[in-house]
Amino acid sequence: MEHSSDPIALVDLRAQYADIKPEIQQAFDGIFENFAFLNGPQVAEMEQLFAQLHGLRSGHAIGCSNGTSALTVALRAFDLSPGAEVILPSHTFFATAESVILAGYKPVFADINPDDYTIDPAQVEALISPQTEAIIPVHIYGNMANMDAIMAIAETHGLKVLEDAAQAQMAAWNGKMSGTYGDAGTYSFYPSKNLGAYGDAGLVMTRHDDLGKVIRKLIDHGREDRYLHDMVGDNLRIDSLQAAFLTVKLKRLAAWTGQRREIAQKYDDHFKPQGFKVIELPAQSASARHLYIVEVDNRDDVMAHLAANNIACMIHYPIPLHLQPALQGTAMRAGDLSVTERIAKRIVSIPMYPELSDVQIDRVAQTFLEVAKP
Ligand SMILES: Cc1ncc(COP(=O)(O)O)c(C=O)c1O
Repeated sequence: MEHSSDPIALVDLRAQYADIKPEIQQAFDGIFENFAFLNGPQVAEMEQLFAQLHGLRSGHAIGCSNGTSALTVALRAFDLSPGAEVILPSHTFFATAESVILAGYKPVFADINPDDYTIDPAQVEALISPQTEAIIPVHIYGNMANMDAIMAIAETHGLKVLEDAAQAQMAAWNGKMSGTYGDAGTYSFYPSKNLGAYGDAGLVMTRHDDLGKVIRKLIDHGREDRYLHDMVGDNLRIDSLQAAFLTVKLKRLAAWTGQRREIAQKYDDHFKPQGFKVIELPAQSASARHLYIVEVDNRDDVMAHLAANNIACMIHYPIPLHLQPALQGTAMRAGDLSVTERIAKRIVSIPMYPELSDVQIDRVAQTFLEVAKP
């Protein structure tokens, strides 16, 4: 029985675990049937199921150590010129830009559109220079970037496209899934993601066979054979144990995504009539609804009021990447990206996970509306 003061977490993984506990235990035990802690059969099983659920007809889904290494290894495999410019949104998690730098390229930050917070294709086009060689659309909050526009720009200018789908497992644009538009798409299985491991894990998906083969090598020390290395790679493999856990969860992912969409709709029904700006999706976009974001004018008051009522909230993300201390010199200055800078001061993320009950949704919304100003 839910009480009016019980804590409501931003993401509650306990409820999910309670539903899948026997299967998770079985997956754990399965690892000790063959002791293949790395490269075990559980990895291929997870990769195949992930590819199938994303409608990847040919190519590769490659499990790896986390979402950051997935991005970095995909960018390395693109084999761009040293120092090549890569255009990405400033409104994303730090790892998107970090991977560009780790791969030896230069991040160039674009603004976002104010409706669904994804990269603005017109901005991308305006930033293209002779040094530009790739674009990273980030499907932030599970919202697909405008992939028709991005792919058209990439084709016109001969650019590679890497979809950062860390937050967008099973999201779709025009009925086609995340990770299948670009040259590659990458996913994070950070525990609180829509598909979360019990530790770190990630995945790269690519429709290109040659690229997939290079990525498989790069995540495993550039090995051609056990002790023959024909390139310098890294150790970025996924654990068989995490893959086994992910397979259990993958079987539920479509249903969980559906529940997230229903919850988002219920929140929208509370907030939109009161004049609040919520995520506005274009007709082509089927969002994976990773986070529920709403804009407010008095954010500090709202966050304090939610906290006082035992309701978790956070800001994803409060400091745009072009204003991060570590990226000064590679980046733009304050004032350059007006939508990004404005919304960074207004957005707040409120509880979102498939098991959230109607009673909890109503309590979050009512508590929010007690103080929030649009
Ligand atoms: C948009 C985005 N890109 C990249 C990452 C990095 O993934 P990971 O934490 O698994 O390295 C994350 C999540 O943390 C993310 O949200």
